[in-house]
Amino acid sequence: MFKSPKDLDLFDPLKQYREKFFIPKQKNGEDVIYLAGNSLGLQPKTVREHVEQELLDWEKIALEGHISAKNPWLPYHEFLTDQTARLVGAKPEEVVSMNALTVNLHLLFVSFYRPTNKRHRILIESKAFPSDHYAVQSQIRFHGFDVETSLVEMKPRGGEDTIRTEDIEELIEREGDSIALIWFAGVNYYSGQAFEFERITKAGHKKGCVVGFDLAHATGNLVMKLHEWEIDFAVWCNYKYMNAGPGAIGGAYVHEKHLNDQSLPKFLGWWGHDKETRFLMDHKYIAIPTVESWQLSNPPILQLASLKASLDIFDSAGINELRKKSEQLTSYLEYLIKEKNDNTVDIITPQNINERGCQLSLRIKTNGKDLYQRLLNEGVVCDWREPDVIRVAPVPLYNSFEDVFNFTNILFKR
Ligand SMILES: Cc1ncc(COP(=O)(O)O)c(C=O)c1O
Repeated sequence: MFKSPKDLDLFDPLKQYREKFFIPKQKNGEDVIYLAGNSLGLQPKTVREHVEQELLDWEKIALEGHISAKNPWLPYHEFLTDQTARLVGAKPEEVVSMNALTVNLHLLFVSFYRPTNKRHRILIESKAFPSDHYAVQSQIRFHGFDVETSLVEMKPRGGEDTIRTEDIEELIEREGDSIALIWFAGVNYYSGQAFEFERITKAGHKKGCVVGFDLAHATGNLVMKLHEWEIDFAVWCNYKYMNAGPGAIGGAYVHEKHLNDQSLPKFLGWWGHDKETRFLMDHKYIAIPTVESWQLSNPPILQLASLKASLDIFDSAGINELRKKSEQLTSYLEYLIKEKNDNTVDIITPQNINERGCQLSLRIKTNGKDLYQRLLNEGVVCDWREPDVIRVAPVPLYNSFEDVFNFTNILFKR
């Protein structure tokens, strides 16, 4: 069915991109098999020069850098806008790089979670990332409601690991009149399931709900059309598939139709104020007519510089091309696991490639932690999630078919 991994790599049109990243080394000097880009992406070699440029301008011209740096700092975040918009399928005025994921979640919930006595509930996956659960619970309490009655958790059917879209639609149809906000991941961090954005959004809108997504595991991984799918708002981080470094600056999207809605409550700061009059320093707020009006503070330039280095790479490779390779890489991983499986591993991620990104989550039936430790000892970087799952994510920018081949050999070595 498949050619040899070496041949697959040879004919990979994106193979030169691996060279653009630092691959950590094992003690023996060989590259590790890095399958943890869903947790922390590798460092693009160009990050250093991007960050150094800003350090240099800070060193040489300091304050002047806001206007006269090679990449002036006042508008620096704008240099990332078009590339970000292309990446997530949005209009430039709908995306901004700011803060971190959970911070952006709260800021956008201020605008998009407006509970009333009749419609106060939030629908969330039962196995969403903990930060989302904490944030959602605190939002419900902040508005004076009770988590017991205002949180609706969507669970998989008994004996299943992933959630069927028809079950989500059915729940929204049944309960939607009391749901203020539907909050789903684009890709679930644990199972690797990619949710059907468009169907969920349509079902929610039909019942009058606002629909938002946590794209931590989707940005840089899936091809998305946030604008066309009419998603109301979304947030993401840039340290996973986006390779912008630990604690990287986050991203936010708000659909065009909400941008000039003056009735939306919003927390304000000076960086959301009209750029022409910002430095008049008066106290009359005029909102920037884009998602930038959700900005509060002037952004961290060194972090934007590192994200810019990564966005240049994504833009040159193209998310459609990356996704094509990603489907092949993950299907190859799935094929090898199925071929070699001695009944010790279950893949809990959906088999349908439209319902997953690059990650496969492997349930290890016995002694999973020992196996995980052995993988680490033998040069594989992946991660362990309690109680019994090893997550592996071959990333199309820097993983090879040979990485996947070698990984499965180590996984099933007896
Ligand atoms: C799905 C998901 N949501 C939220 C977070 C929290 O992100 P942050 O620490 O950037 O707020 C993470 C972090 O890994 C995540 O995977």
